[in-house]
Amino acid sequence: MGIQKPKGAATLETEGREEDPRSIQMVEMAVGGSTVDVVDDPYSDRVRCDHPATRDEAQLAEALRGVADELGRHRVVTFVDESLRDGLEDAGFEVEGVMPGFYRGASDCVVMGWADEPDRIRPADPEGAALTDRVLRAKSDTPGLHAVVDTEQAAVSDASDIAEILGETFEAYPTPSSDPEYVANQIEDGVPFRVIREGDDLVACASADLVRDARTAELTDCATRPTHRGRGLMQTILNDLMDDLRRADFPTAFTLARASVPGINVAFQRLGFEYRGRMARSCRIGSGLEDMNIWSRWL
Ligand SMILES: CC(C)(COP(=O)(O)OP(=O)(O)OC[C@H]1O[C@@H](n2cnc3c(N)ncnc32)[C@H](O)[C@@H]1OP(=O)(O)O)[C@@H](O)C(=O)NCCC(=O)NCCS
Repeated sequence: MGIQKPKGAATLETEGREEDPRSIQMVEMAVGGSTVDVVDDPYSDRVRCDHPATRDEAQLAEALRGVADELGRHRVVTFVDESLRDGLEDAGFEVEGVMPGFYRGASDCVVMGWADEPDRIRPADPEGAALTDRVLRAKSDTPGLHAVVDTEQAAVSDASDIAEILGETFEAYPTPSSDPEYVANQIEDGVPFRVIREGDDLVACASADLVRDARTAELTDCATRPTHRGRGLMQTILNDLMDDLRRADFPTAFTLARASVPGINVAFQRLGFEYRGRMARSCRIGSGLEDMNIWSRWL
């Protein structure tokens, strides 16, 4: 769910964008002698820049604001190595979260944000997030007791069922995950998906979107059929995905969870993830631009 992987690099030219409103475009920028990739994400009215390979924070900040302005986007999100934190703060970016050991277990990732006006970065649903926080506190010392169920690693033949459950679960979603071909391509690309079936029915799924260079993964695409919620199915799937990542020698995993949905935050807390911060009004999911909680853990 994090962000759709661009099919290829493009320039600021936006002609030829596909019909899907979630189509994203890669923009290449020269920053301090390095090339930095930026994703134009009109669906969530933002540009996102993951892991820029530059040491020139002032130029990076200026370039990101410039490209957002040129594309008509009002928010910037960037995931950077901890070494860029101070310089970006000096240039007006705010720290939204910090994930320890994100880069190959060796250095932290700082999630930093900027918006061209305060309303664009104002929490979308503070009451909903506060309710989630209360649920998390109340559940923090209680055991989660659920029956053991088997999960299956998904094959390409599961793609249409996965696309169907994701399409039915989310009114809006940042990636075209209700498209069976998109899901099939991800599975073919080696993205681990796990599912639970009851008979022939797929009742829950999630995936681990690999950030291969950093040797970490975003646990995402979490959906359980309404009839099957609250039985620990998502926790079982996520637990097995974590084992998949351990087998691949990944030192950490993370997730971006909807701040106003208690269940998904409880599931990650139960699995030993730690709350790392919140990205206000970051991503279009569910019914609109939502606040996303950042969680991560060592594996
Ligand atoms: C979020 C979701 C995937 C959780 O799936 P699930 O299979 O029900 O999850 P689990 O049962 O493993 O864990 C959920 C936990 O939250 C608890 N929970 C859920 N809603 C809750 C609420 N409103 N208040 C308190 N606890 C709640 C459940 O009881 C369970 O805790 P437990 O271990 O104490 O029993 C499912 O609700 C869903 O598909 N929601 C819609 C899609 C969505 O928002 N996905 C997340 C995108 S970031």
